[in-house]
Amino acid sequence: MRHNNKPLGTLNLTLASLLSLSTAMAFAHGDVTPQAVDTAGLTQLGEEWVDENPYRAPYENQELAIKIGDSAYNQNCARCHGLEAISGGIAPDLRNLEPGIDGDEWFKYRVINGAVRDGAVYMPRMADYLSQEALWAIRTYIESRREN
Ligand code: HEC
Repeated sequence: MRHNNKPLGTLNLTLASLLSLSTAMAFAHGDVTPQAVDTAGLTQLGEEWVDENPYRAPYENQELAIKIGDSAYNQNCARCHGLEAISGGIAPDLRNLEPGIDGDEWFKYRVINGAVRDGAVYMPRMADYLSQEALWAIRTYIESRREN
């Protein structure tokens, strides 16, 4: 009988560490439930990341990009960065990103790399879950919020 206790103990330990891990992740908002984003109607960009937001005016479908980005932002970013891009303090206010290519570079860097320090996920690598089309649409939306 005694040898039965050991696997059980090991199992309990594993469950406990899984639980505390998921709690830690939830605290760090590191859990990701990506929401599919339909980018039909926007110029498709392929696998290789471009350096500058291709959907900013004079792009003819900028308004569509803003619309897609609005919904994609609110489903994938808002829980940390705030509804309608107004930060509630958990994560930086993205309306403060620099406009134009300077802001684009930082935006791209962050969505590809996330923010991971000492194994803690402050921001997931969003580009693992969303296409660059979806992410540039989000960038276009954020910039439209900046002007308002
Ligand atoms: C789980 C929470 C979380 C989610 C979801 C999240 N972020 Fe973040 N984001 C953060 C945190 C926290 C930081 C600050 C990182 C740091 O401490 O360096 C950050 C930083 C950033 C920055 C840099 C801002 C700056 O001023 O330096 C950008 C850009 C960004 N996030 C974009 C996004 C986008 C776009 C999405 C959605 C596709 C997203 N994030 C989803 C938590 C999140």
